[in-house]
Amino acid sequence: MAADPLTLPVDDEAQAALAAHGLRMELLDPGDDAQVRAWMEADSRGFHDAAPDDATIELVSGDFAGSRTVAVRDDSLTDPRVPVGTITSWPAAMTVPGGEVTGWAISGVTVAPTHRRRGIARAMVDAELRAAVAAELPVAILTVSEATIYTRYGFGPAAWTAALEVQAKRAGWLGAETPGRVQLVERATAMETARELLPAARRATPGDVQVVGHRFDRLFGSRTDEPELRRRRFVRYDDEDGVPRGLAVYVVGEEDPADFTSHVVEVRHLATTTDDAYRALWRYLLELDLVRTVRAPLRSTDEPLRWLVRDQRAIRTTELREHLWVRVLDPVAAFSARTYGASGRLALRVTDPAGYADGSFVIHATEGFAPRVARAGAGSDVPTLELPVDLLGSLYLGGVSAVTLARAGRITEVTPGAALAADRLLRGSEPPLLATWF
Ligand SMILES: CC(C)(COP(=O)(O)OP(=O)(O)OC[C@H]1O[C@@H](n2cnc3c(N)ncnc32)[C@H](O)[C@@H]1OP(=O)(O)O)[C@@H](O)C(=O)NCCC(=O)NCCS
Repeated sequence: MAADPLTLPVDDEAQAALAAHGLRMELLDPGDDAQVRAWMEADSRGFHDAAPDDATIELVSGDFAGSRTVAVRDDSLTDPRVPVGTITSWPAAMTVPGGEVTGWAISGVTVAPTHRRRGIARAMVDAELRAAVAAELPVAILTVSEATIYTRYGFGPAAWTAALEVQAKRAGWLGAETPGRVQLVERATAMETARELLPAARRATPGDVQVVGHRFDRLFGSRTDEPELRRRRFVRYDDEDGVPRGLAVYVVGEEDPADFTSHVVEVRHLATTTDDAYRALWRYLLELDLVRTVRAPLRSTDEPLRWLVRDQRAIRTTELREHLWVRVLDPVAAFSARTYGASGRLALRVTDPAGYADGSFVIHATEGFAPRVARAGAGSDVPTLELPVDLLGSLYLGGVSAVTLARAGRITEVTPGAALAADRLLRGSEPPLLATWF
């Protein structure tokens, strides 16, 4: 039976590995304010942030009750209050093509600068993967500070984002008119709308992960960033029946004090559930008076926006990078939970040093129906790929072409043409996207 990952005790193997270095691991008690503060101090210190103030602690502390949060302690320190290692994980809904899975979302991985490179992160991450396996969760997921850290744990980059910068006046809107209405709403109204709208938008986007707790609140601004909070604007698109279909959160800043027409819009979040809403809100943002530039991070690598303006060169991608990382733990469950773009069979021979996904499995996809996925070898008539587990995570959501990985020599076609066959099954019409951080 699946374990409840939130009530699992400290991982014995990790505890033993840390004990060899005079360290110990403990679970955070979410009801203990002093422990919560010390854990948050360690987390901030690890990312070179200022120590959390009371407002931040109040904002974030509620989330610990829904997470499994671990601290590693060095009791020999003069000031042992603040842990030397932190990690926090929780079950999070992630959209996959045609469905969703519950992933084990891992965050807040930090090790004190004085204690680095002695295996603390290794002990903590391995323990979380074992917790996820005990809970029978098919994947673990995370976002990263550095792209070099997590391949060794079996994670692969699985969804990419683009940061866009649009020269608003140059772009020239050519999108069709929309029948609904755009209106500015107050923060509380925006948050109320978002409670339904954001999950609906998330469910339509493979790779997107449910935002809860302080991460949801922060999209709308919070007391922790007071000056910015007062600048946030919220604009909503309602369809012709008055149903909210889109929401944009943005801030307008001044770029050149000498030129009042050169303001910059920073889009903090833009979620839509219909194409009309998408068009109406982008048009609103690009046609704001006194605005020269609109910047939007965490956008798709294939934004329809490009096709809504006359001058595509008015849109610059200022950053393109991997954002969501996926670690497949149970390939049969993971690949059974998604649908496929075509009918066909595909065999995947996976090497996974940790053992969880190691071995062969076969996907038998029938377009429009649930797939059959089973652990098995396959005959020579089945297109077969050989690959390491991190790249299994990269292929999972269809965010990268198997042909590209084969050309790069990172995966092997056991049967000729297997990569193209894989792409036909795995790739969707739009790239996966994670639209927030966690
Ligand atoms: C990244 C961090 C958590 C690693 O902690 P650590 O305890 O020093 O890591 P470990 O000693 O367990 O190292 C495990 C492995 O990861 C490697 N590694 C650790 N940090 C790495 C980094 N930043 N880049 C590349 N490899 C790294 C180690 O070399 C080791 O490799 P091995 O398995 O081949 O032996 C720590 O450096 C840190 O807190 N960094 C700042 C905060 C941060 O970026 N956190 C990650 C958030 S996503």
